[in-house]
Amino acid sequence: VKISLSPLSSLKGQIRVPPDKSLTHRAVFLSALADGISVIKNPLTGEDCLSTLRCMEALGTSVEKKEGEWIVKGRGLHGIRNPGASLDCGNSGTTMRLISGILAAQDFDTELRGDESLSRRPMERVALPLRSMGATFRLHEGKYPPIHIRGTTSLKPIHWKNPVASAQVKSAVLLAALHVEGETTYEEPSLSRDHTERMLASSGVSILQEGTLTRIKGPSSLKSQTWEIPGDFSSAAFFLVAGLLAQKADVLLQDVNLNPTRTGLLPILKKMGARIEVLNQSVKGGEPVGDLHVKGGARLNGLSLDKAVVPALIDEIPLLAVAATQAKGATVLRGLDELRVKETDRLKAMAENLRKMGARIEEVDDGLLITGPTPLHGACVDSFQDHRIAMSMAVASLMARGNTDILNASCVAISYPDFWDHLKGLKG
Ligand code: S3P
Repeated sequence: VKISLSPLSSLKGQIRVPPDKSLTHRAVFLSALADGISVIKNPLTGEDCLSTLRCMEALGTSVEKKEGEWIVKGRGLHGIRNPGASLDCGNSGTTMRLISGILAAQDFDTELRGDESLSRRPMERVALPLRSMGATFRLHEGKYPPIHIRGTTSLKPIHWKNPVASAQVKSAVLLAALHVEGETTYEEPSLSRDHTERMLASSGVSILQEGTLTRIKGPSSLKSQTWEIPGDFSSAAFFLVAGLLAQKADVLLQDVNLNPTRTGLLPILKKMGARIEVLNQSVKGGEPVGDLHVKGGARLNGLSLDKAVVPALIDEIPLLAVAATQAKGATVLRGLDELRVKETDRLKAMAENLRKMGARIEEVDDGLLITGPTPLHGACVDSFQDHRIAMSMAVASLMARGNTDILNASCVAISYPDFWDHLKGLKG
């Protein structure tokens, strides 16, 4: 599908962005492993979360799907059943990596596969710690999906120091460690999103966060509960930046998850000169939430991104690159090797696309160097089948002179099925 977008004159209104993707995946996994019935209120029905749901159903979990609510019958830590066929993770790295931790602890073999994009993404990073716990992993060319897992019910605890900050690897190890007698520790170079830790704690697991080190004691059963999923900051971010960059804008994004391990974009934008208000702050289900209010006409300045903060805005870097084209001076975004192995190579995709629109942007091995402000012009750009590239380029198109075509635009359904409608609704 190709979408054609015209520039905007103003952006106005309020929206409830879609439910958080990371939280929805985790709520399905934890509900399936819990004892008793859990309710997931306001789950994200984007394609990625449906992949997780289908995989857990194939592993024996029964789920009643109502409008705005999934009711999950937990089978307990030992209730997972052999699916008898390979599991399809679709486009979802979160599904494949997190479920690997669960399957490592089962007494059967499973195979995990994914779409073309997922089949190119590195999976040794989960195989390594789970192998050292005692599971057997076979990967295509030693690195990629399909993954063949031979699990075991006698996993051993490990003390793992991971070279990259990855919430997916961390979560896989924590889910495996649930099944293991003794204490497992996991350390990362900087703190990645900590939803799994918070949700395990609220499920009654003995788990402790000490900075970038997490300790978990198993084996531990999980309490069933009601999970209420707030809006996804990563989805809100598109309209936040669109609002900032517009000449005239007044946008309110309601009920957004504001977990500090996710909102790293906010202090960066503020440092660049943006004015963003956070309203109605509260805590829901162990996670901070609030509304974000943004007005247009921001005058931004470039900056150098500190590597240590990257995990807290890992999914927002493409969007930050768009903002940087409109900021005065140089913006230096480095330490971004991980972006090369997301749904697509996001550094290459953004450099190619933004250059076509007239931006001054240079791609280096681990990042992007951008000089601004540059007026953008319409062009034909490509999402490369990556939802966040499609939406970042939509934001760029709003600032451009003339129309922009975005190829392969339907992939927004991965995380934000209503994105094009919400955009239409806000556009003046
Ligand atoms: C996610 C973690 C991040 C992020 C992805 C979702 C998660 O990946 O990019 O979109 O839900 O755990 P890494 O932690 O592997 O960087």
